Amino acid sequence: MDAHRLEQNLILVFAAVMGVFFAMVVAAAVVFGINPAASAGFINPLIVDQTEFANPGLRNMGDNKYDIYILAQMWVFDAGSEEMTADGVQIVRVPEGAEVTFYVTSRDVTHGFIIEYHNLNLELVPGQIATGTITFDRPGTYRMICHEYCGRGHQDMNLQFIVESASA
Ligand code: CUA
Repeated sequence: MDAHRLEQNLILVFAAVMGVFFAMVVAAAVVFGINPAASAGFINPLIVDQTEFANPGLRNMGDNKYDIYILAQMWVFDAGSEEMTADGVQIVRVPEGAEVTFYVTSRDVTHGFIIEYHNLNLELVPGQIATGTITFDRPGTYRMICHEYCGRGHQDMNLQFIVESASA
């Protein structure tokens, strides 16, 4: 009998702990707005050239808001920019304060990216369109870096954002 009571108490304790964890997940989502990265939809990665990713690049949506379409592939982020660093990394220029919504997909293998000093970190699964929005508040140069090992050129896979001062 005592053993049963002990078991019953343990079950109550475990149930309470699970309840606390569940409440934390709900609170994180509802109160603090912490959610899994969103997907903007799915495409067939074999016919990426017949989608909006055929013409990647920055689209001015007005009011200092931008959409950017970026196609990831071994081992470049193609943002449709013709301006490049000496190493062949594309450069994207946005004005200070620009709110940029990313639409990024992969043509081949799983890639991922973070934007230095900004809160955006997404996995790029072929066939899936990853999306997220950040505001470039401070002028400067920020790299978008592939953070999922994707082959021998992985460490060179990046894109450069230059945030231009509003007073310049
Ligand atoms: Cu792309 Cu690592």
